[in-house]
Amino acid sequence: MQEAIVAEGLVKTFGSVRALDGVDVSVPTGTVLGLLGPNGAGKTTCVRVLTTLLKPDSGRAVVAGHDVLKNPNEVRRSIGLSGQFAAVDEYLTGRENLRMVGELYQLSGRDAKRRADELLAQFDLSEAGDRPAKTYSGGMRRRLDLAAALVVSPPVMFMDEPSTGLDPRNRMALWRVIEELVAGGTTLLLTTQYLEEADHLAHEIAVVDHGKVIARGTADQLKVKVGGERVEVVVHDAERLTDATEMLTGFGKGELGVVKLQRRITVPVTGGAKLLAEIIRELDARGIEIDDIGLRRPTLDDVFISLTGHAAESENDNADNADNDGDDEDRSEAGPQRGRGKAVKR
Ligand SMILES: Nc1ncnc2c1ncn2[C@@H]1O[C@H](COP(=O)(O)OP(=O)(O)OP(=O)(O)O)[C@@H](O)[C@H]1O
Ligand SMILES: [Mg+2]
Repeated sequence: MQEAIVAEGLVKTFGSVRALDGVDVSVPTGTVLGLLGPNGAGKTTCVRVLTTLLKPDSGRAVVAGHDVLKNPNEVRRSIGLSGQFAAVDEYLTGRENLRMVGELYQLSGRDAKRRADELLAQFDLSEAGDRPAKTYSGGMRRRLDLAAALVVSPPVMFMDEPSTGLDPRNRMALWRVIEELVAGGTTLLLTTQYLEEADHLAHEIAVVDHGKVIARGTADQLKVKVGGERVEVVVHDAERLTDATEMLTGFGKGELGVVKLQRRITVPVTGGAKLLAEIIRELDARGIEIDDIGLRRPTLDDVFISLTGHAAESENDNADNADNDGDDEDRSEAGPQRGRGKAVKR
């Protein structure tokens, strides 16, 4: 299969920071690559190099058949980009923003209007479409920016954390739009901090840390590396924690994690929902009361602990990158808990 995006040995330094430290990626035409990594991993830098916004110190990249250094204009003509920070005109309405993009891409006035209406509906902005973008909430701006990136569908698309800042309903809507886009033959490179999202959308995932790709594979392959699912139990009564731990050892496929203070036990398992039901029955039979129980898939933190032997580091996450030009919405989750690696309960 032909590759729509190929990068080899990309290096980019900012002073003493090696934002990209020899990144290789390849994305076959018509597929989705998810670039997964914590704050400061180098995701945006990689997207900026591949979209010709930034020159690498070394390495090469070919996008849609054109070399990003030798033929940047040809690359730009073949790609669409939705950046991490929404780039909409504050003073234009949502509808005007989208029509303007359409006209820039030489759609006829009529087609630009039709496309704007379609996208406003798809991104749940029809009602707000005639208000200036400066009155939009963070999530609305984000959606408008994504819609603007989709006015025309270029063969290769880049989306930098497209779903950050969207509520669950809008995130689902975005996923549907992305699926349609890819079904139509678009090649997509998207970055995300959520394994769940990469899992849902990407054919292949590349995990990045400190400017390097530290693992790549399908979601299933990565999950196998990480060790599959976990059951998490919060015992009601601290005095029963030992009993519960003993009992759960029998169900575990590896070492149990116990956090005494939270009365929480984490058990690596295989067998999913069926096993969860068995565990609940067994706890009940032994009269061990629980406050919470859930099956969760590996989180980004689990991936990191498993792949690197340490939790994802965050010293770079100081929200003051030189290219962080204003809209801080995307980083608002970046407190000590980082908001990444969300547990997925099902
Ligand atoms: N223009 C710049 N000047 C200086 N340092 C930069 C610049 N752009 C990025 N960096 C640094 O390069 C590293 C990688 O940043 P990058 O924005 O690529 O990370 P990211 O993976 O996109 O993170 P996030 O999840 O927070 O968006 C960080 O340490 C960052 O501070
Ligand atoms: Mg980024």
